[in-house]
Amino acid sequence: MTLDLFDDPPRAAREAISAGAFVLPGFALPFAEELLPAVRALEERAPFRHMLTPGGFTMSVALTNCGALGWTSDRRGYRYSPTDPVTGEPWPAMPDSFTRLAREAASAAGFEGFAPDACLVNCYEPGARLSLHQDKDERDHGAPIVSVSLGMPAVFLFGGLARTDKTVRIPLRHGDVVVWGGQDRLRYHGVLPLKDQPHPAFGSVRVNLTFRKAG
Ligand code: SIN
Ligand code: FE2
Repeated sequence: MTLDLFDDPPRAAREAISAGAFVLPGFALPFAEELLPAVRALEERAPFRHMLTPGGFTMSVALTNCGALGWTSDRRGYRYSPTDPVTGEPWPAMPDSFTRLAREAASAAGFEGFAPDACLVNCYEPGARLSLHQDKDERDHGAPIVSVSLGMPAVFLFGGLARTDKTVRIPLRHGDVVVWGGQDRLRYHGVLPLKDQPHPAFGSVRVNLTFRKAG
């Protein structure tokens, strides 16, 4: 047998950031063809919108949700709600392909039986960013967070349990999944301002799906 030294080195199936945090490179690629039309159908019923933070800033990331609960923000604070404040309707149901992907990714990272009831869908255009924050509005911190990257690449920041802890920079590409839970569930994280590096199917957009057990 000869080794082909000119091939790209194979990427590990799972890269540990920490004891309870993993990158699964390309894990979502087999689902990608189902995900793009599902996002399109979702935004028809629950359009992307720029939410206001309690401090009065408009978020650069546009957001929508699917699932029983959706994350919203306004001057009164952050919360999960069963209805979309823009349409007054329940959030669209979580597509089966989303639920399967989230459960399989969680399991690949060692978190069995993940049953998300909320999927935040973030839409980043060039320049959009997400400042360091913790995902802590969920009732159940026992379940992990599963975060799926689609479209343009981004640099994910993963920090510690205090905002001022140092962060590692993790480049994320279309199809990569990050899972964090257990002792790492409340780590600060964010996304650096996106560069314009258009993706063949998504164009100058990055879509991120984060799955949570919120209720
Ligand atoms: C989030 O923290 O909600 C999103 C992270 C990402 O866009 O990668
Ligand atoms: Fe987050």
